[in-house]
Amino acid sequence: MKIVVVGGGAREHALASVLSACGHELLFTHENPGFFSLGTVRPVAPEVLAAGADLVVVGPEGPLADGLVDRLATLGVPAFGPTRTAAALECSKIFCKRFCHRHAIPTADFIVVEPGDTPVLDRPWVVKLDGLAAGKGVWVSSTIEQAQEALAAAQATHPGQPVLLEDRLYGPELSVLALCDGEDLVVLPPARDHKRRFNLDQGPNTGGMGAIAPVETSDLAACVAILRTTVAGMAAEGTPFRGALYGGFMLTPAGARLLEYNVRFGDPETQAILPLLAEDLAPWLLGAATGRLPGSNVKLLDAYACAVVIAAATYPEGRASSQIYGLPAESDNLRVYQGGTTLRADSRGHIRLWASGGRVLTITGLGADPGLARRRAYQGAAEVRFLDADWRTDIGAGPWS
Ligand code: AMP
Ligand code: GLY
Repeated sequence: MKIVVVGGGAREHALASVLSACGHELLFTHENPGFFSLGTVRPVAPEVLAAGADLVVVGPEGPLADGLVDRLATLGVPAFGPTRTAAALECSKIFCKRFCHRHAIPTADFIVVEPGDTPVLDRPWVVKLDGLAAGKGVWVSSTIEQAQEALAAAQATHPGQPVLLEDRLYGPELSVLALCDGEDLVVLPPARDHKRRFNLDQGPNTGGMGAIAPVETSDLAACVAILRTTVAGMAAEGTPFRGALYGGFMLTPAGARLLEYNVRFGDPETQAILPLLAEDLAPWLLGAATGRLPGSNVKLLDAYACAVVIAAATYPEGRASSQIYGLPAESDNLRVYQGGTTLRADSRGHIRLWASGGRVLTITGLGADPGLARRRAYQGAAEVRFLDADWRTDIGAGPWS
């Protein structure tokens, strides 16, 4: 198949790697140095590259929120991802909560603070911006004072917009991703993302510092039931969901609760999940895009994968800017995905790889057990050197694994 990949991060590098390994011809809209050996990079609008393509795979949420899939539909090109309307599950947290309420999906209690309202809070609510915020729109409070301050900050930085207040839940988190064709879905190996910046889940929330998959949990069936209710509910409301539906769940003592939906592959979950596939992903993406998944189970390796994000020391605020040395060699047990990298000429005109982003690389180790997958990922990470490179050392090592 001729496939256009939209997006330029480590998630898209992981998608492109598995598609390229199955012999597909790839075209890229973004410049990621990791793409050059996998296909043709042409930084133009996806609609331009899509002419004559069999499929467009949309990685990030921005183009989905912007209606790219709707525009491609009018051009007659199948695109993997939801329409703009269905993308509201991620793009409006308030839409998502009200949808959960309509369909009796277990989630934290919530209230919506309308613009201009200044309620006096009665408990340490979790404060959330309604719209897309690149992982920076959630304040998890421990005290009423913190929640009140977070609400004031949310209102001050986003005047005229409603703010969501949610009951704080407790428990381990689980990311469950499913490929959906509007009516049916197929579940990918459940993953655990590590969203906080520092070891032991300390520090600010980030886009994700690493992930492990699969995660064994008795709560998986409940999570999958919620995904199925969601797909059925979206179809019943006239906005069928096609694409990757990513449920972020909290496994509370009272059972699984939906924290949020993303309407795309997760980053870094994708870098842990896709290396576990034992068959071509393309027919599944095309089937989801065209309304008919080709089966009910994706074939998987009998293995675990641990994905460690190598970030700039200043991430999530800052970016790295330094040459990268010691990029580990890929093997059956080690994958190297580029996220925030770029090519630069040195003073002698030699092209060098530079770190240029917040999340620079994801190193994924594979193994027959989670411990071996971790060790391989960290052996790979230890080879990487650039100024102020930093990573968590406890990915996949919590009390949960
Ligand atoms: P979200 O973008 O809604 O997934 O929130 C980002 C992170 O904030 C989640 O992964 C959780 O770690 C945390 N979080 C969000 N909502 C809640 C909640 N209701 N209770 C506790 N933690 C939460
Ligand atoms: N891993 C979190 C996200 O993709 O939003």
